[in-house]
Amino acid sequence: MLVLGVESSCDETGIALYDTEHGLLSHTLHSQVEMHAEYGGVVPELASRDHIRRVLPLTELALKDANKTLQDIDAIAYTQGPGLSGALLVGTSFAESLAFSLQIPTINVHHLEGHLLAPLLEDNPPAFPFVALLVSGGHSQLMRVDGIGQYELLGDTLDDAAGEAFDKTAKLLGLGYPGGPALSNLAKTGKPRFKLPRPLLNSGDLNFSFSGLKTSVLTLVSQHQPLDAETKADIAYEFQEAVTEVLTTKCMSALRETRLDNLIVSGGVGANARLREKLNAATKRKLCKVSYPRLEFCTDNGAMIAFAGAMRLKAMQNNADKNYSF
Ligand code: KG4
Ligand code: ZN
Repeated sequence: MLVLGVESSCDETGIALYDTEHGLLSHTLHSQVEMHAEYGGVVPELASRDHIRRVLPLTELALKDANKTLQDIDAIAYTQGPGLSGALLVGTSFAESLAFSLQIPTINVHHLEGHLLAPLLEDNPPAFPFVALLVSGGHSQLMRVDGIGQYELLGDTLDDAAGEAFDKTAKLLGLGYPGGPALSNLAKTGKPRFKLPRPLLNSGDLNFSFSGLKTSVLTLVSQHQPLDAETKADIAYEFQEAVTEVLTTKCMSALRETRLDNLIVSGGVGANARLREKLNAATKRKLCKVSYPRLEFCTDNGAMIAFAGAMRLKAMQNNADKNYSF
């Protein structure tokens, strides 16, 4: 079965072709980051208009790269949400009308399920069950995953998501958009000089809270005006240390509580090098395994949607009596 994947929930148009026998055949992506950068964040109306411009050429390119034609596609998976309504509408209209004209089914994929399953696109993917850490711009969740569609929420953020905290803190430090990569780059030159709190580190549950951390950064920033380059880097360093320590500790607690030994990490913050370094060390100490998507599949892309759609299709065919929900 050949599945076309369409992602358009925010500021990336992603298209991919996933074959249930031969794996990922092609994927194309256009990021609108440069277009939104001058506004300091995503402008929804501009995002929708750009998705309209990109979706067809990217699909043609994905088909050409895979040496396939429209008639080869068996099903179309697209992001149903969450995301920007206008942006989602572009992907939905495109996918539904194309599927209607080709007389093939559509599979509406939850954006988070796409992120969650992205590490399984890599070689030697972990077998179910495993613990998943999903850290994106909108979510910070720990889940127990027993199979496709079998997700148990173990912990969630009580306020800001990890990526959101990175973005807001980057803004406080006067860094550009998107803030996460900019902040983590700056943190490389920072030194351990400040001490920020580790929110909910010893809360006894698997929840997160990052908004207080952002407020502590605000206090530091106002105490060190005018901010010099060194102070900025030192704050970025400590902020990243705080977030990655909390995420790592909670992942290890989740593995312990579930008695599982496989962890997967996904979402934009999963691209953070310091987080990967800490998770690699902590899982190695406990003889556990951690898997990540390649860097380009941490952030939004069409491959994860095509893959999630293909897995869902397979699961539905194998278990026609079961309902799958995310
Ligand atoms: O998963 P994603 O592309 O979009 C959502 O579905 O939200 O994640 C985007 C988020 C942004 O908040 C971005 O700042 C953050 O992921 N991010 C990072 C890094 N790369 C992206 N945060 C920290 N370190 C990074 N290297
Ligand atoms: Zn996303």
